[in-house]
Amino acid sequence: MRLKVAPSILSAAFERLGEEVRAMEEAGADQIHVDVMDGHFVPNISMGPVVVEALRRATRLPLDVHLMITDPERYLEPFVAAGAHHITFHIEACGDPAGLARRLRERGIGAGLALNPATPAGAALDLLPHFDLLLVMTVNPGFGGQPFLGDNLGKVRAIRERERGLGPSRRPAAGPLDIEVDGGIDARTARLCREAGANVFVAGNAIFRAPDPRAALRELRRSVADGAETE
Ligand code: DX5
Ligand code: ZN
Repeated sequence: MRLKVAPSILSAAFERLGEEVRAMEEAGADQIHVDVMDGHFVPNISMGPVVVEALRRATRLPLDVHLMITDPERYLEPFVAAGAHHITFHIEACGDPAGLARRLRERGIGAGLALNPATPAGAALDLLPHFDLLLVMTVNPGFGGQPFLGDNLGKVRAIRERERGLGPSRRPAAGPLDIEVDGGIDARTARLCREAGANVFVAGNAIFRAPDPRAALRELRRSVADGAETE
């Protein structure tokens, strides 16, 4: 299973976003995590399709768009058009997650499902075949720089176990399910998540607020690679 590091640009310096993203690309980031907040689903407002479009011009890395918005179905199209590689929406914000995932996949866009800390793994287990990515929030969404909520490790474990039980024939998507963790991820907590079965690690403050963001990214990667089981 491929381990991926996804810097969250919510913590980057917005006055030089292009440079920040290019630095991450050079340092070996696998994808760029883009946090979209609407001031309704979460108590904060961040960025929309125009920023995704600008990022698309600044980097070749896949754009990992995390929609923390109400009614995600209304806004898929602008994010697809802006160049998202995959789009993750929240199960708590959506009445028909499988239908939305189908719409994304028909357009060749990866489909991701996010779970807030209060949402149990059981809410998502039967939906796994429809998705390429499960995002387990390890903070309550809305802000960077919050402490890691370790209770969510059990959720990561439960999702990975169910996914392994399904086997490749049950999942139409290519490759193993990505399980992404987001919130309070640093070298220590990433390793705990890796041991629980996560393979995609989002980090905002741990990278961009570090004295040397490139070194912080490399350290994060090393910490999860050292903890990796052989598969
Ligand atoms: C939180 C966002 C995260 C956030 C992570 O609502 O979804 O992606 O930027 O930031 P850190 O790594 O600082 O917790
Ligand atoms: Zn996020």
